Amino acid sequence: MLTLLKLLQDGRFHSGQALGAALGVSRSAVWKQLQQLEAELSLPIYKVRGRGYRLQSPLSLLDSEALNKAGSPWAHRVFDSLDSTNAEVMRRLAAGEVPPFAVVAERQTEGRGRRGRRWVSPYAQNLYYSLALRINGGARQLEGLSLVIGLAVLSTLRAFGLVDAGLKWPNDLLVNNRKIAGILLELLGDPADICHVVVGIGINVNMQSSVVDIDQPWTSMQSESGTLIDRNALIAQLSACLEGYLRRHELEGFSALREEWEGGHLWQGKPVSLIAGVQKIQGRVLGIDATGALRLSVDGEERAYSGGELSLRLSDDS
Ligand code: BTN
Repeated sequence: MLTLLKLLQDGRFHSGQALGAALGVSRSAVWKQLQQLEAELSLPIYKVRGRGYRLQSPLSLLDSEALNKAGSPWAHRVFDSLDSTNAEVMRRLAAGEVPPFAVVAERQTEGRGRRGRRWVSPYAQNLYYSLALRINGGARQLEGLSLVIGLAVLSTLRAFGLVDAGLKWPNDLLVNNRKIAGILLELLGDPADICHVVVGIGINVNMQSSVVDIDQPWTSMQSESGTLIDRNALIAQLSACLEGYLRRHELEGFSALREEWEGGHLWQGKPVSLIAGVQKIQGRVLGIDATGALRLSVDGEERAYSGGELSLRLSDDS
């Protein structure tokens, strides 16, 4: 089935006869595989008499060879389908695989988002990327780490021409107030000693609105740029950006990146509500502190907030 998908990925028409010849099977076997493809991967296929078959839109499929070329900062383990790339990294760490390494998949059946939400992960549309890191430096190396990852993702998006992309504390990436990427860090081991971090990154790449149902405003790189994004080139760029920012973070600490982060923060100076469980704190964004905590002006006083369960909204009057 995957060979058939590779033949169709250009989004052009292919006759049943040509597909059968390339696969070494009959036209009716091609037809069966096409039906299977459509049903299992939710990829609509058009059939036009006299022209053949084509996908609704062209695809950029993951290519393990291209991703593991010399010069790549770490190995990229490529999967067709996983429950979650973060879960796969955890299993590999538990089995003794030595970090750093990255896991990517064409789709996730149980993609995890922040605060227990699910991350919609349709086949071959987006980027589902998890990086395994070993943390030797204890708490200092974890300080601001999720914000540093946000900077690496931002710089990747901008390298692909998305100049309007920006950050929303703590680590969402937005374009025109629509979410384009999210980050989920999961920790394994003792943060005071040697531990591992799983850096999960989801980027909406070639996803189109007709195919999914997401409960918040979102966009994708293709919707913003109008072109199909080469996901292998995107992964190569992301890994290179991550390596650069992680090195700076390790050598110089988060405070060296604080100004740059604030420069990319879309909600600097804006009136916001900070949601912490049932509590709602109204304030104005001042920036972040040297640990990555959010600085808000609340009733004329400066206060700092941090923690994975917090979420930020723009106030109605902003
Ligand atoms: C968020 O809620 O904003 C965080 C979303 C993180 C999604 C990515 S996709 C790759 C990795 N694997 C997962 O299961 N989740 C993260």
